[in-house]
This record gives sequence, structure tokens and C-alpha cells, in this order.
Amino acid sequence: MIEAVNLTKYYPPPIKSLLDLKSLKDFLRTPREEIPALIDINFKVKEGEIYGLLGPNGAGKTTLCKIANGLVIPTRGHLYISGYDSIQEHDKIRGRIFTIFGGDRDLFGLFQWRVSVEKNLRFIAELWGISRQEADKRINHALKLLNLDEKRNEWYQKLSAGMRQKVYLALPFIIQPEVLILDEPTVYLDVFTRREVWSAIRELSKDFGTTVLLTTHNLNEAERLCDRILFFNKRKIAEGKPKELIEKVQSLKAERKLIVKIKGKVDVDEFNGIVQKIKVQSDGKFTYLQLYFRNDELQDIIRLLARYSVVDLQSVPVTLEEVFVQLYNKT
Ligand SMILES: Nc1ncnc2c1ncn2[C@@H]1O[C@H](COP(=O)(O)OP(=O)(O)O)[C@@H](O)[C@H]1O
Ligand SMILES: [Mg+2]
Repeated sequence: MIEAVNLTKYYPPPIKSLLDLKSLKDFLRTPREEIPALIDINFKVKEGEIYGLLGPNGAGKTTLCKIANGLVIPTRGHLYISGYDSIQEHDKIRGRIFTIFGGDRDLFGLFQWRVSVEKNLRFIAELWGISRQEADKRINHALKLLNLDEKRNEWYQKLSAGMRQKVYLALPFIIQPEVLILDEPTVYLDVFTRREVWSAIRELSKDFGTTVLLTTHNLNEAERLCDRILFFNKRKIAEGKPKELIEKVQSLKAERKLIVKIKGKVDVDEFNGIVQKIKVQSDGKFTYLQLYFRNDELQDIIRLLARYSVVDLQSVPVTLEEVFVQLYNKT
């Protein structure tokens, strides 16, 4: 279980130059918390759920992951991990949470460079107090699942950035934490490796009931992986199931686009009042229409198009990306 309550973080602004400071008094008097990273963020993640924090660069994703690990102290509000305050009760959550920060930045310095993948994993399992026999079982399972079997005897140092990220992802299978935090887990991965990682994350939540909080700016990733999403950019924009959010936007306000190729001429006036917007191009033989419409207008559009000789028709779907953009434009 993870819960954010009015979670807010302002970072101090950078000091341009010490010479700019007139005096110590001046320095102490100036308000130092100015760069917003998180503003009044509230959400609750249930046990076993995969919850996505979706926002562009600078949205505050990494800040939230750092707060979860007690690495950054919020200006206001709380983040609870399994019911414990991530700052005030940091010692209680240490054994329950595991975090992987994006890229291959081994933030906690767990891996030794000139040691094989397998030995590294064994050593970490030992640190977590897992018996040798159980560790071997878990390591084998994780390496197979992540398609890393061939790399087990390779030095960690020799692995590519993508491989290292996968090796890192083996850790939650070995440690089996209650709560797993993944900060942009597939950020530098190619599309094939990304899919392997996605299925591994799903497997984790299925097999061990791990609660996963994952950040991403990749809409496709959020749509495929997450049970629920919080769109945010410092502040909350929207929350819900990926599918529900798309449907909501479609039914409420989304303008969708239909591209139609028609043989001959078209009386554009007929479409006035039926669609939101129309763009017309003609090359004498064919007319190309771009119709911007809302869902409740679709029936009328089809009736009208039936009078023409439609050669081709293409509906441009509303993707999560468009949802994102539309919601952004509103705030
Ligand atoms: N240590 C820091 N000092 C000052 N500002 C910071 C610091 N870390 C992050 N920020 C600022 O906070 C905001 C959120 O950053 P971050 O949490 O890294 O976002 P994300 O991970 O979503 O890209 C950004 O405007 C960033 O510049
Ligand atoms: Mg980040």
C-alpha cells in the first residue's frame, strides 16, 4: 500500500554566485523554497496494484521516488509506504521497499563491476538474508524470465546499459519487496527489451502481489502496464484507469478526426452544423475531407457520407497521448 497525502515539494533555487549575496542576513531572509516539484499530490495505491505516475520531464516523478526512499524531505504532506511515513518512520519501511532508478545508475552502489552477474545477485541476496538455496532458485527464475541466462557468468562491467537495467530488474524477483518503485524503468531500452521488462513487471505483481509504483513519460508504457494512472505535472491533472480516461475524453470533449477520400465534388455546406470543423482539398478527380467531430455526431456524418462515393476512410484514434495533450491544454 502506498498513499500520498498533500505531498508537496519546493526545491531551493540555485545560488547563482556567492558574490550575489549581500550578507548572511540577506541569505537567511530570502525564501529559499521556490522551485516547485510536487504540489498537493494525493493518491492511494492498493496492494498488488501497478500504479503509474505519468508526466513529462520535470513533472516531479523522480522527486516522489526520492521521497519514498527518504532521500528528499517534502516541504509539506506525507508519503506512506505500507502505512509508515517514508521520512519519519524510514527505518520501518527500509526492508519493505525496493527502488530502481532509471538508466543504469546504480544509485545505491549494489553492483561490483568485475564480478559476474550471478555472483553479484548472490551477494545481494545474502545481504537481504535469503538462504543460498532459495537465492539460487529465485536467481534462476529471474534470469530466465528476463532472458539473461547467457549473461550469468559475464562481468557486470561488460554489460550494455540495457542489459544492466535488466539485471537490476532481476533484483525484485530475488528480494521480493512489498513495494517496488520503478523510476522510468525502460527509459533507455530498445523496443524488444522494453517488452521483456514489461512482462517481467506484470509477472512480479501477479506472482508475489508486489505493489508497484512506476513512473514514466511513455504513454504507451502506462497504457499497457498500469492498472491506474495519475497524470501530473507538479499538480494532479487526472487519475483513473487508462481505458476509462481515454473513453472519458472521447465522450466528453474529444475532437476526433476522420479522413475521407471521395470521388468527385463535395458540397461542403452540407457538413456545416454536423461536424466541428472541416478541411477540404481537391485535385479535380477526388476530394479529400478532414472532418473533426465529436462522438455524438458520428451517425449524422455517416448518413451524409452515404450520399457520396467514398473511396477511402480513415479514423484517427484517440491515443493516450492525445488525452494527455487535451488535459494539458485545459490546465
Ligand atoms: N536537487 C534539486 N534542486 C533543485 N531543483 C530540483 C532538484 N531536483 C529536481 N529539481 C527540479 O524539480 C522539478 C522536478 O524534477 P524531477 O523530480 O527530477 O522530475 P522528473 O523526474 O519528472 O523529470 C524540476 O523542475 C527540477 O528541475
Ligand atoms: Mg526523473
